Parts: sequence; structure tokens; C-alpha cells
Amino acid sequence: MTQAVTSQVVILDYGSQYTQLITRRVREVEVYSILLPGDATFKRVFEGNNPTAIILSGGPNSVHVKGAPSVPDGFWEECEKRQIPVLGICYGMQLIVHCLGGKVEGLGKGEFGRMPVVDIPTHTKLFGEDIEPQNVWMSHGDEATVLPDGFKCIGKSEQGCVVAIEHETKNLFGLQYHPEVTHSEKGMRTLKHFLFNIAKCERSWSMANVLEEQIQIVKEKVGETNHVICALSGGVDSCVAATLVHRAIGDRLHCCFVDNGLLRYKEAERVMEMFKNELHLPVDCVDITEKMLSELKGVSDPEKKRKIIGKEFIECFKEYKKTVEKKTGVVPKFLVQGTLYPDVIESCPPPGSDQKHSHTIKSHHNVGGLPKELGFELIEPLRVLFKDEVRRLGKIMDVPRNFVARHPFPGPGLAVRILGDVTENNALETLRLVDEIYINAIKEFGLYDEIWQAFAVHLPIKSVGVQGDQRSHSHVVGLRAITSNDGMTADWYPFEPKFLQEVSNRITNQVRAVNRVVYDITSKPPSTIEWE
Ligand code: XMP
Repeated sequence: MTQAVTSQVVILDYGSQYTQLITRRVREVEVYSILLPGDATFKRVFEGNNPTAIILSGGPNSVHVKGAPSVPDGFWEECEKRQIPVLGICYGMQLIVHCLGGKVEGLGKGEFGRMPVVDIPTHTKLFGEDIEPQNVWMSHGDEATVLPDGFKCIGKSEQGCVVAIEHETKNLFGLQYHPEVTHSEKGMRTLKHFLFNIAKCERSWSMANVLEEQIQIVKEKVGETNHVICALSGGVDSCVAATLVHRAIGDRLHCCFVDNGLLRYKEAERVMEMFKNELHLPVDCVDITEKMLSELKGVSDPEKKRKIIGKEFIECFKEYKKTVEKKTGVVPKFLVQGTLYPDVIESCPPPGSDQKHSHTIKSHHNVGGLPKELGFELIEPLRVLFKDEVRRLGKIMDVPRNFVARHPFPGPGLAVRILGDVTENNALETLRLVDEIYINAIKEFGLYDEIWQAFAVHLPIKSVGVQGDQRSHSHVVGLRAITSNDGMTADWYPFEPKFLQEVSNRITNQVRAVNRVVYDITSKPPSTIEWE
């Protein structure tokens, strides 16, 4: 726990797709929360983290499955001893019932989707004043049929299943539904009531505190004389991380922006201008376009392309390290990385898999993915934050709004959006123009912030068309726009036909090399977001 944070909620993850959402919901009301794997040890839960409250998440297991995840030995006794309130959600509630002597059964009914909770008694600790029936989001197969001693049922589903329970004196609570999702209309009120009125959490988690504290940490770690390097990608994370580190150690931070020749329309100029004029952050732009494109010439295999780009980037970074050493007379010892919380969370493995909890690691190449042999110690000031928190942190450091709200852009750039050889057919130039028209239209129609990521793709095929009364044989471009929370899964964005019509007209009128525009209507999975 950080110095300024006076309350902390520990969330034990049993594998629900909503676990990260619970963590964020708690933080949204300014209470710090951390996510631990469901099989975390006693020591890790209690000694390492000193929880003010504990939430047991949902999960896909049944408590009866052999090896189903549970709480560590001594958990319930310790919660009672320290008077730590516990809220079990879905699987978490079943775990409470199962562990404390009640009965959980699979009666083959199951309840899924939106439905009302009824029969809430007039006096409950968990619901406070919310005693009217409320619609909630349910998703369970098993149900609690016998409650452990001291527990009472404080809510039922219309089918008569027990969906809310409490042990008033021990402060143990269970909800069979998901209060964290917006479909549960009073879910957030219940969660807040649990946090503030029952667990007496204090609101002590704010981006201003994070900023102050991370600046302090960086100062201490780097000391008075060391130098630090940061590779900026033009994305939000590296920009916010660099801005923070610059506040801590000033110009002993050396930032490098690599123009790899695979960037979007005027990207290098725009990013460099922003760093200089708006953030007053000194950045060296290293242009490796020529080398990169000569290495990529003739290469069509997607993996080969990625490898070449990664290798060139590392070479360039090694050179930059030498440049900084020459300039300052000191070997830079630290590297700033924009690692985020979802990159380091250990989550529960899927049931039936033989894995221990999986560690989510970015499998992609990006500016953070520099190899160990470069010999840097890492500075990761965003390691405890979710993406939306990084954006808020950026905002309080005056990073321009249009920059913090930017869509993600992949490290290998347009190379994964030009299918085949990137050096052929003037593809880079064509794609830059098309992408710029598309993104500008999205902004003009007020859709940019609703979309997680949008971009154009250059296809290696030509089709027949009629342009200016003449037959043409020109390129096809694909447009993609998706909604997503984290890029792991995605849905395609349902544009209005009018938007698609307008954007297609603009592209085919303004870019001679294109006579056909198609829209990608595939979700992830089975597709990936990028085409390569
Ligand atoms: P995919 O295509 O794997 O993309 O569904 C998921 C998200 O990751 C981005 N992406 C990358 N980001 N380096 C990055 O920094 C990469 O090599 C890379 N490849 C894909 C992609 O844009 C999407 O947001």
C-alpha cells in the first residue's frame, strides 16, 4: 500500500471475466484495490497487503470440481479476528457457503442474464435502504441450497434461488449476481454501501496522489546523478510515463522517438511538435526509415516482417544509448517503460486447464519490449494503473486531451496493415492518405471516443472499377473499427450506412490509387484486430 492510501481492497480472482471490472469499480470511487490470484497465500493476502475489505470474485468453476480454487487456510478466522468485511460475488458467494458449512448444488436450472432480485427484507446490512426489487445481471449454474449457520437470505431470484446472503455480525456477504456490471441497476450503490458504510473505507486513491508518489519513487530510485532513457512510441502510455519521469528528474531523462518509416500520416512531425510545444519535453527523433524499408524490401511473411522491425528498433536503441553516453559522459542506467496493471496481473487459469495462474504478458513487439541484454534497470511508473487511469494521470499533467484519448497503435506500425511487401505499389503513401481521411471522418462524426481502435488496411489485390468514366484497375482498402476493453477480445463497430457511404466516397475521390473500399465485420476472436 502506498503512503497516501489509507484503505485498500484486496480482490481475489477466481477467473471471472468481470474481475478486472470489479477492481476498476472500486478504484472509481477512490478506494485503492488490487487483484490477487485466487490461490494467493495467506501471507500474501493479509501480511503483504493489509486489506480493509476483501472481495471474492466470480469464476467459471463449480466449488465441487476437484481442485476448484478456494481461499487459503486460516482465511475466515483471520477475517473475523481482524474484522475484515468480505463480499463474495457469484462463485465467491458459493465459496462462502461451501467453506462455512452450507450446501451448494447444481440443480440444472441456472440463471443467466438480466432478472429481478425480490424478497429483500426491510432490514439488511448489505442493501441498506435499497429494499425494493432490483434488476441485476445473473450468471450462475450452481446455487446455494442450505446456508451456513448465522447466515440469512436477503434476496431471491424470481425462480426462488437464494441470490443474496449475509452474516450480520461477522460482516460476511454474498451476491449471486454481478453488482459490478452496469446491467445491475443498483449494483454500484450496493458496492459503495459495502465499501463505505460497512467496511469504512476511506477515499484515498486519486491520480494526484499517484503522481506525487511516483515522482518521489523515481527520484529516490534514480538518485542525484544517474541518467534515464525512454523510447517514445507516440502512444499514451510511454508519453505519460515519460512526462512523469521528466517531472521527477528533469533533463537527465533522454527520450527518443524512432521514425521507422511505418508511421501514420505526418505522425513524426505531429508527435515531435506536441512534445516540444505542449509538454516541453526534450525528444530526439531518430529517423531510420531508409534502413528499415531496405530491410523490409521483398519480405511478405508477417512474422518475418515483425522480426525485422523489432531487430532494427533494438539496433537503433543501442545506438541511442551510445549517443546519450557521449553527450552526458554517463552510461544511462535506467529505462522507462509504460507497463500497465493489466500487463502484470496474474489471473486465474481457465477450469480444466493444467496451468497455474496465467501471467498476462504482452506478446507483441513494442517499445517496451527491449531485451534484457541492453542492461537497463526498469522504471515503470504506471505499473499499478489501468488504461483509463493513465489517461486521467496524463490529464492532470496537462498532456493534451486529443493525445491522451488516442487509439492504440501497434509497434510495427503500418507494416501490419499493409498485407505483403510494404515497399511495393506505393502502399505506404496510399494507406497514410486513406487512414487520415477515415480517422478525420470518424472525428468529424463525433465517433472517435466510442471506438477503441480504427484504421485502414492496404490489400495486395486490385479490382476493376470505373473512375472518371474510365475503367480502372486499382487497389482495395479495408476499413476496420472495433470496440473493446483491453484489446484481448473485440467487436466490430456498427457504423451507420450514411457514415460508410460518406467515407467511401471521400476515399475513392481523393485517393486515385483506390477504387474499392470494404468494411471488416469480424470480431476478435476469430480474427485479430490487426490484419497481420
Ligand atoms: P491483435 O491484432 O493481436 O491486436 O488482435 C491487439 C492489440 O495490440 C495491438 N498490437 C500491437 N501493439 N506491438 C504493439 O505495441 C505489436 O507488435 C502489436 N501488434 C498488435 C493492436 O493494434 C491491438 O490494439
